[in-house]
Amino acid sequence: MRGYYATTALAMLLGCAAMTASAKDQARPVPAAEAAADDWAAKTEAQMTDDERFSLLHGFMPIPIGPYADPEWQAKWPKDVIPGAGYVAGVPRLGIPSQRATDASLGVTNPFGIRKGDSATALPAGLALGASFNPDLAFAGAEAVASEARAKGFNVLLGGGMNLIRDPRNGRNFEYISEDPLLSGVMGGAAVRGAQSAGVVSTVKHFSLNSNETNRHTWNAEIDDAAHRESDLLAFQIAIERGHPGSVMCAYNLVNGQKACGNDHLLNTVLKKDWRYKGWVMSDWGAVSGADFAIKGLDQQAGEQLDKQVWFDAPLKAKLADGSLTRDRLSDMVRRILRSMKANGLVDAGPAPAVDMAAHAAVARRIAEQGIVLLKNDGGALPLAANVGSVAVIGRNAHVGVLSGGGSSQGLPPRGWAASVPVGGGDGSIGAWRIERWFAGAPLAALREALPKAHVGFDPGLYPQDAAALAARSDVAIVFVSKYEAEGFDSPDLSLPGNQDAIVEATVAANPNTIVVLETGNPVAMPWLDKVKAVVAAWYPGQEGAAAIADVLTGKVNPSGRLPVSFPASTDTLPRPAIPGYGTPENTHVTATMNEGSDVGYRWNARTGVKALFPFGHGLSYTRFATDGLRTDGATASFTVRNGGERAGATVAQLYLVARGGKPMQRLVGFQRVELAPGAERTIRLTIDPRLLADWNGTGWTIAKGDYRFALGEDAETLQAPVSVSLKERIWQD
Ligand code: BGC
Repeated sequence: MRGYYATTALAMLLGCAAMTASAKDQARPVPAAEAAADDWAAKTEAQMTDDERFSLLHGFMPIPIGPYADPEWQAKWPKDVIPGAGYVAGVPRLGIPSQRATDASLGVTNPFGIRKGDSATALPAGLALGASFNPDLAFAGAEAVASEARAKGFNVLLGGGMNLIRDPRNGRNFEYISEDPLLSGVMGGAAVRGAQSAGVVSTVKHFSLNSNETNRHTWNAEIDDAAHRESDLLAFQIAIERGHPGSVMCAYNLVNGQKACGNDHLLNTVLKKDWRYKGWVMSDWGAVSGADFAIKGLDQQAGEQLDKQVWFDAPLKAKLADGSLTRDRLSDMVRRILRSMKANGLVDAGPAPAVDMAAHAAVARRIAEQGIVLLKNDGGALPLAANVGSVAVIGRNAHVGVLSGGGSSQGLPPRGWAASVPVGGGDGSIGAWRIERWFAGAPLAALREALPKAHVGFDPGLYPQDAAALAARSDVAIVFVSKYEAEGFDSPDLSLPGNQDAIVEATVAANPNTIVVLETGNPVAMPWLDKVKAVVAAWYPGQEGAAAIADVLTGKVNPSGRLPVSFPASTDTLPRPAIPGYGTPENTHVTATMNEGSDVGYRWNARTGVKALFPFGHGLSYTRFATDGLRTDGATASFTVRNGGERAGATVAQLYLVARGGKPMQRLVGFQRVELAPGAERTIRLTIDPRLLADWNGTGWTIAKGDYRFALGEDAETLQAPVSVSLKERIWQD
């Protein structure tokens, strides 16, 4: 059991001043409360004994696993333990509370059902949130999760996950936000602020380059420092500046040969020195392999029973004794934890406010609605005509619920799981954890409710002949296809598993008026794409997903989601056509060279001249928008967005850098979700983060003197005529 969990840990605008309606996603100065927290932390730490200091530096997972499954040991759990992801004892004599941690970004989890029947709002996938391009929703979602966490007694939220999507086959992409550093950074920062506004510490993770699950403990990501700073690290940097998370969780993988949690360059140089990060670095569960990680920048060993040893107790004490751990560093580790606890209200926490589950369900629904992406809509196939006579709903479990992603982020929503299907994991240590969970709330029922006058038939999508027969006798066929993804596993390719492609092919052959709804945690291949009329990407749409899908299909909600990740034309176009080490025994050492550098996703396609199946930023609407009149000086930009159609709706204005010094390149430098009534128009003003125009020069950023071209984009590939700006050289530190 120990090995089982251990290897898995989960077995487990644009300065937008004018553009964002609220200030929630704005960068903020360090508030006075944080300075006071530093002061309190220093005074409190000075009064601690060494045993008390070390007690804050490690914690366990309060779940009976590994050596901690021993009932006698459990009987000794402190009284304020809440079974879940993590626990670190407090120091009552100094008013230091315990740290009680829970996962995470998509809802408060209940691993292995350890808190019997305890459910929580289950949000849509992080990719759905990313597709909304709406930082206010990121704030609201995280605030909902964090306030439920607090009401259950937790005070540390292990969210949000925000690794950049470098590989569309990564099993955890559904927990993350996007392939773009600006989008992930802005949304991640807003989520941190939302969570911490509820009085808990929020964590950004997994620092850094945890971009695949294959051999995740032995996966070595090789990357040039400049490329790293301009991509994954920039996403974290933006989120940290905007959100001030109390904690950063380091990753399982290695970066340039060093374990991320014992990586002096990443933790000491980049995070703490260059970015002046003041919070604490906690390990991922089972990611620590030595007490020396403390010297390399790790402040706390979390989930200690998943490691070979409790390194941050006796072995680290020995390092203090032999002088390799300095007293200053020991104090620093403790102070970092204390100041983040104090700054986020954990030390002075009163009773948790009551939570409004109905309001949280409404947030889950808004994320699903704004995150659904209408990929294709030929001939106005959608929305469904109000007087449609008969509809064939086809597809596995469309009569049961909506799919969710697996692993440590898996939630149990209030209406429960309508189906749980063990998938297994072959020889993998976390196979037992690979269980498809379908959230109650079925698309079939939602469509029947939304179309009371239509005959809505159902076929489970087992046999192509049956699907075709139902489709043939219906006006419209809607096929729900799905692909389960989970922590601990990548997919070998982008295909839909089982016979789902054959089901779509048979359906569309029988009835050309076929619409496909994707419930997936990643981009997928669609060999039948040219034949079907419409495609809707619903991701894992969360506990309110069925109603949101029905509302988009019937037009009650005008779709506004935009792809936060490119849908590749083929895996051959990816920087790594095959996943390094895929299929090798777990924990095989593998080196994955990030040869795309900072050109992740759409940037890689731009660099290699490849077209995506659907590009980053793509998404259709039931109305028509026009965006034009770009004016920019390279620091700010303005333009006009107009709704020229007959329906209210929202678009996501996107501004890209498209060339530098005469050389084509592509980077999203600003975005704004804009809601407009029919006929209405708005002027949008964005501020451009200069780092998005610059290169990392080894010690800071350089904007080279020259010509910079900017273009408004419908998406990363549908760009307007560029506007040129001549910029002076600029060099700065951060
Ligand atoms: C995951 C983390 C999670 C932790 C605690 C690990 O397996 O990688 O994201 O927070 O477990 O459950």
